[in-house]
Amino acid sequence: MLLKTLLQAHESRGRISSLEVNSESVIDLHARFVIGSTGQITLRILEPNQDDHHLETGFYDSLSRESQNFFGPPEEFTPPWSEEEYDLRFGQSLKYAFILPGDGVERIIGKFYLKRIGQMYEGDSNAGKTAELGIGISDQYHRRGLGSMGIDILEWAGGQISLDSIWLMHFEENDKGAGLYEHRGYSIVRKYKLLNPFTNTEMTAVERIKHL
Ligand SMILES: CC(C)(COP(=O)(O)OP(=O)(O)OC[C@H]1O[C@@H](n2cnc3c(N)ncnc32)[C@H](O)[C@@H]1OP(=O)(O)O)[C@@H](O)C(=O)NCCC(=O)NCCS
Repeated sequence: MLLKTLLQAHESRGRISSLEVNSESVIDLHARFVIGSTGQITLRILEPNQDDHHLETGFYDSLSRESQNFFGPPEEFTPPWSEEEYDLRFGQSLKYAFILPGDGVERIIGKFYLKRIGQMYEGDSNAGKTAELGIGISDQYHRRGLGSMGIDILEWAGGQISLDSIWLMHFEENDKGAGLYEHRGYSIVRKYKLLNPFTNTEMTAVERIKHL
């Protein structure tokens, strides 16, 4: 399916308007749309460079404490990377963002990614065909369909790179994440106690998977 068709479905539900898709390539995705009265939002891939890293840090800093409890800071970017290190961190991942141009200063309002990793869970017979999903949306834009749109884009991208399934882990205490993944048909694989590194408290980790 074309990305444009997928995003048009959000447009026809009235979630977005003025859709323009400029590139359908998973590694050079580029689209624009309007949401409510916020002005034009750009959807594009995030690159492993200083400028995009700076945008990601600004996004993380803008999140509420509650959101930061469940969505961590960006990987530290300390160039020059060795080729091996670069590949390990970025070569296997696709990271996208919803970006507001602001007053000439770009600002991320949503970030979502797929990280392709070997074995995702014990007994995974699908190693290499599964990727980990992560998503975070700015608090002021919650419940406006951006999370769901981000997941649609990642599932589309997963199909383009021939993934069989998408895996993720969230904390059970994260009602918003749990609600989104349940809504999007991610089935629970297992649950276990785990230290949340962002709160330093023990929580219940929930692993989920969706076959594409
Ligand atoms: C989880 C998160 C990404 C959801 O993004 P969002 O843009 O608000 O989600 P959407 O508006 O697309 O919601 C889609 C569906 O998800 C579910 N959902 C979203 N927020 C929910 C909430 N607070 N409670 C219950 N269900 C919720 C609903 O089923 C919703 O559909 P509906 O609005 O038609 O009822 C967002 O809350 C977030 O960024 N939270 C902080 C970071 C985070 O926790 N990330 C996940 C880490 S595992």
